[in-house]
Amino acid sequence: MSDRAEEDTVAVTVENRIAWVSFNRPEKRNCMSPKLNRQMRRVLEELEFRDDVGLVVLTGEGTAWSAGMDLKEYFRENEQKGLGATRGAQREAYSWWERLRWYEKPTIAMINGWCFGGAYGPLFACDLAVAAEDAQFGLSEINWGILPGGGASKVIAELTGFRNAMYHAMMGENVDGRKAAEWGLVNEAVPADRLKARVLEIAEVLLAKNPQALRSTKWAVRRVREMTYDNAEDYLIRAQEAANYFDSEGRKEATRQFIDDKTFKPGLGAYDVNKQRD
Ligand code: COA
Repeated sequence: MSDRAEEDTVAVTVENRIAWVSFNRPEKRNCMSPKLNRQMRRVLEELEFRDDVGLVVLTGEGTAWSAGMDLKEYFRENEQKGLGATRGAQREAYSWWERLRWYEKPTIAMINGWCFGGAYGPLFACDLAVAAEDAQFGLSEINWGILPGGGASKVIAELTGFRNAMYHAMMGENVDGRKAAEWGLVNEAVPADRLKARVLEIAEVLLAKNPQALRSTKWAVRRVREMTYDNAEDYLIRAQEAANYFDSEGRKEATRQFIDDKTFKPGLGAYDVNKQRD
């Protein structure tokens, strides 16, 4: 398929409160074109406040997670049109990654194959990441004469140590899922035939937690990375107080279940969110 319609560049299925969202240009190794970027933002926004969706998994159709930015449709064609077109295309891409970084619901990147360059933006945007052991990660920009832009340099510097980041960005060599896990680009790597099952296990644990607590937790961890200790402490007081506004009863119920009912231990698992008393 040479010219996929915009609405076909992203595939979505919702099953048991999990939205499986896929980059859907397998014939182009799921590289991100302006059409795909627009459609992905639309899809993510549509899912964000749906009651039947508790969590989003971002994956790719075919052999790739995503081969990064589309060198033809994102870079070359926009450069030919001029700076305005380039800036417009950048905003379309960056805006859905930004939406995903601060998404209302938990997100898991399920890295099934190639993951290059610009794809590090959505990789970092997802809260958790699980890769197939044979997935391939690369900052290939150096191989075609640019720097890792679109956040990719920031992502590698954030997720792994300085020497790994430098080697990865300067050498243009790929690492597999195992090495990506060792470096901290993903939480873990599993054999390809276990990938979906492992992501499902993680998703089921997350779906059983208090959703407001999960949302404020993931935002808190992202925010405090760039704060001093004192600022973080202060932010977290305020974040918890704001979370109480959305759900003032959840933690009281959890405390009851632990202290009074003795039906669970927070150190060993989550309280029963379906049991809520007045
Ligand atoms: N931009 C534009 N087109 C891309 C692309 C990208 N980032 N990645 C793949 N494609 C296209 C190829 O041009 C090819 O198109 P065609 O069928 O019209 O010729 C098609 O996708 C299949 O790619 P191909 O290279 O034949 O697949 P492969 O499985 O042999 O190799 C990759 C896969 C990912 C190793 C290879 O496609 C590649 O190196 N892509 C570029 C990765 C990259 O540098 N991304 C960083 C961008 S910031």
